[in-house]
This record gives sequence, C-alpha cells and structure tokens, in this order.
Amino acid sequence: MAYETLFTPTTLGSLNIPNRVIMAPLTRSRTPDSVPGKMQEAYYGQRAGAGLIISEATNISPTARGYVYTPGIWTDEQEAGWKGVVNAVHAKGGRIALQLWHVGRVSHEMVQPNGQQPVAPSALNGEGAQCFVEFEDGTAGQHPTSTPRALETDEIPGIVDDYRQAAIRAKRAGFDMVEVHAANAYLLNQFLATGTNQRTDQYGGSLENRARFPLEVVDAVIEVYGAERVGIRMTPFIELFGLTDDEPEAMAFYMAEQLSKRGLAYLHLNEPNWAGGDITFPAGFREQMRERFSGSLIYCGNYDAEHAEARISENTTDAVAFGRPYIANPDLPERFRVNAPLTEPNHETFYGGDEKGYTDYPFMDNGYDRMG
Ligand SMILES: Cc1cc2nc3c(=O)[nH]c(=O)nc-3n(C[C@H](O)[C@H](O)[C@H](O)COP(=O)(O)O)c2cc1C
Repeated sequence: MAYETLFTPTTLGSLNIPNRVIMAPLTRSRTPDSVPGKMQEAYYGQRAGAGLIISEATNISPTARGYVYTPGIWTDEQEAGWKGVVNAVHAKGGRIALQLWHVGRVSHEMVQPNGQQPVAPSALNGEGAQCFVEFEDGTAGQHPTSTPRALETDEIPGIVDDYRQAAIRAKRAGFDMVEVHAANAYLLNQFLATGTNQRTDQYGGSLENRARFPLEVVDAVIEVYGAERVGIRMTPFIELFGLTDDEPEAMAFYMAEQLSKRGLAYLHLNEPNWAGGDITFPAGFREQMRERFSGSLIYCGNYDAEHAEARISENTTDAVAFGRPYIANPDLPERFRVNAPLTEPNHETFYGGDEKGYTDYPFMDNGYDRMG
C-alpha cells in the first residue's frame, strides 16, 4: 500500500476517522433555490471514502449571502435537503461536517434581501472583490461587490444567534460536525484582520477585541454541538478580496490558544498561496501552531499525497484536506492508496451547471485495485 501514514486512523475531537484524507469545502453553485437535492446527495455520496467530508460553504441566513446558487441552512426545506445529503453519506459509511458561512462584505445589494447593503465590521469595500449575482435577464455572473455598512454593536448578538440557529439545524440534519468558516476574507476573517476591521467598540482595535465576535460565534456553536464536534477554518496571511492584515501571525497564535482552551476539535488552515501568489507561512509557524493548539490540525492547499504524508510524518499536521483534486476524483483516497493517476478537474464546470463536471467524474479502473 502506498502512503501508509495517510491511512492511519485518527480522531477529530470525538469523531473517529479512518484516514487522513479530508475533502475540503468546495462551493459548486448548483443549488439555484438554495436547497440541496438528489444531485448533491449523489455528489457527496460518491465522496464518502474521505476521512471527513467538509461541505461547501453554507449560508447561515439570507443576509449572509454573496453568491447566488449556493445552499443555505436557515429554512426547513434547506434543513431537509441537507438531511438527505447526510443520509446519503452515512449510508456509504462516510462522515460529513457542515461549513457555516457568512460572507460579510463580499456581497452586493442584488444578492441581499430587499436590496439592502451588505454588512461588515467597517464600511469598507474590498478592492477588486467580486461576488456572484443574477442579472435581470436571468443570467448569472461575477460582479464587483457593493460598499457594506458597518454592523451596529447591538446587531452582533443577532448574527451570533444566526450561527447558533444554523448549528441547531445542522445537528437536526445529522451532520457529524460543523466547521465555522473564519477564512478566505469572509465575515469572521474581516473581523480578525486589521485592514477590514476599523471598529472602535469592543469588537475592534486590540487582538482580543478583533477576535471577540469570531469567538462568540464559536462559543454559540459549541453550546449546540459540544467542542469535540466543532472545527474552524482560518487563513492567516491570505490576500483575497482586498483584505489586508498587519498582524496575521499574532492573531493566528492568539486564536489557537483561545480555541485550545475551549477544547475545539480541529483547526483547519488554508495555505496562503492556495489561490495564487507567493506568500507562504513564515518559518516556524507550523511548529508554533502545533504547540499552541491542543486539538487536531488540518492543512489544505496545493497538496499531493507525498507532500501530505511528509507533513503528517513531521507531525506539523494530523490530516490534509484536498479541494480541486476532490472535484475530479470521487475516490481520491483509494487512488492514493494504490498510487493511481489522478483525473484533472475541468475549471469550466467548477461553478454552476448540472451533473456535468459534478457527478460524472470517473471512478478508478478496477485494474488498479488488483495492482494495489
Ligand atoms: C471551486 C472551489 C470552491 C471553493 N469553495 C470553498 C468553500 O466553499 N469554502 C472554503 O472554505 N474554501 C473553498 N475553496 C477553497 C478550497 O477549500 C481549498 O482550500 C483550495 O481549493 C485549496 O486546496 P487545493 O489546492 O487542494 O484545491 C474553494 C476552492 C475551489 C477551487
């Protein structure tokens, strides 16, 4: 068997996982009515061999949205749709977490209820930021984001509650875990970073203040799921949608310590260069994160099996998540196990459309099984 380390079972909090190959969260924009259906059941079911599937980012409320055709978890229909997906994954012996999403300023009035302004820590539009809207002629496409308004201090508990309600629905739908999306320049990342958070109340300024809202969200979700079934995704050092940050390392360390105190199941870090650019984590960063966080670590971004195995062997991570490779290889762990070639994903069908480029990627030829 190739890559044995990847196939050593481990735990994420209280969840046993049979391998270290995680399916990364992947927005596929195939739910025009925001309700997952049979196509999503088939897609996620095909990928049940992952140690853990992390679902595509899922809007916690109507104001959390910045991309049309993405799913939600704030209505009974959405909850029922997700239950079907969870059942399909469980029926094939898999495990699945729901990624809880609020885009903050990465949105446009066209996507918001009643054409209202998107909300953010501060009223600053992201330079060059794009969201995904539906135009009047019914076509959809990328569109520059519109300027958000700053959340009032007394509105924050309401958003924390939206996360709590979303977690309650996720639990009823049967998700094994939930992942708080604090990455990729969306709302929680906007609170953490100095460039996007210029608040003067208790949610802005010091590290402690900038982390306050994300930690309140984590605490609300823990109340529902228990810390041993909650993970978080973060992207210190990332430069996306015009987000800048003067203190990414200090914040990552502070968050790691705070999350560790809470006994969070896992911390999932996306490599800063996953979407391009040449920024990487500074020397010693991975070791420091290991020291400061007592739960499991997951890294993601441009990994192959060999690189993943090396990181696990050097003990800077427990598992590795794969995004683009999982789009095109529903049986990714099996392919790693027998060292079979991978199918290349077609970028044209990443977002939107139907089964094409979604559920029609081939499973490996049985011949590889025999060779393995
Ligand atoms: C089509 C696509 C959709 C994505 N959607 C999400 C998402 O919903 N949530 C998230 O946290 N990251 C998302 N990402 C980032 C991936 O989870 C992952 O971090 C990134 O693709 C790097 O991993 P890779 O090199 O293995 O693809 C997306 C990436 C791609 C390519």
